[in-house]
Amino acid sequence: MGFLKWATDPWGQTVPIHIAWFLIWVAVIAGLFFLIVHAIWLRYFAKPKEFVDDTSAQVVARIPKHVPRHSLVARLFHWVMAASMLTLLFTAFLPKIGIQFNWVTYHWIAGVVLTVSILFHVIHASFWLDFWAIWPDRTDVEDAWKRVQRFFGMPAPPPHKFAKYPLENKLFHGVIIVCGLSAICTGVFMMFRVRTVFFPRNPYLFSDMTWGLMYVLHGLAGVGLIALVMMHVYFGLRPEKLPITKSMIFGWMDRDFYLEEHDPARWVVEMPSSSPTSKQVEG
Ligand code: HEM
Repeated sequence: MGFLKWATDPWGQTVPIHIAWFLIWVAVIAGLFFLIVHAIWLRYFAKPKEFVDDTSAQVVARIPKHVPRHSLVARLFHWVMAASMLTLLFTAFLPKIGIQFNWVTYHWIAGVVLTVSILFHVIHASFWLDFWAIWPDRTDVEDAWKRVQRFFGMPAPPPHKFAKYPLENKLFHGVIIVCGLSAICTGVFMMFRVRTVFFPRNPYLFSDMTWGLMYVLHGLAGVGLIALVMMHVYFGLRPEKLPITKSMIFGWMDRDFYLEEHDPARWVVEMPSSSPTSKQVEG
């Protein structure tokens, strides 16, 4: 049982042509395994979260009822990307598990939507949003170490509350970048193998070996994304995470949830411009 499918090219060379499709089921089972273990852990074994609480009453009093979290543009990007990602996953993998339809055209169109939306996101996040908010900082690393020690019953002070994004979300974003960019970069070249409206078909652009490796990387990134998307949807639907999911629809989160999980010194709330205290809250 190999992880790759091989073929012989016209020159007699053995080349990989794509991943073995049983890897789809490996990804689905790995995703389900993670969800089940996590749900059991949280239900029966996890202790309540504990954080350092050093926010002054004065700062707490100035947090608005609705804390702005995602701008309209950021939310639109998220849902366009989600729709294109789900379309890509279903069009790619349903035919492989026996549900046949003319998938390639829908697939590359969704691929173009994903590619353009990600290009937009990179520019938007770099120049309009807080670019560094999604990357782990020194406090995340120090707190991660405290959390590991406390997990193993060793004495350690409680961690700080989170900045805008918890470390887990930042790490997830990093893994999504690796898989997403691998699928996108290979996918753009693979469009030369099929008929699209962008450029003439040219299957001779690369050698058979290079094409084969490209299809393998595209497939590996794709099955990786099956498990990652399952985890993401699971967390989005968990009851204790619903305030975060709601913020991706309405743009804001409740003050109480913000104060429970987030540190106003690490995630500075922007006050609505009509508010009498329309400057930023300093931690
Ligand atoms: C969630 C992301 C994606 C997943 C899960 C995914 C998955 C797949 C899979 C499994 C195949 C079949 C490959 C094979 O037979 O070895 C495929 C083919 C293809 N993908 Fe994707 N893909 C994704 C993103 C993209 C993107 C972003 C593009 C374009 C920009 C793209 C363009 C293509 C093209 C053109 C083919 C057809 C190649 C052919 O039939 O020769 N894909 N994709």
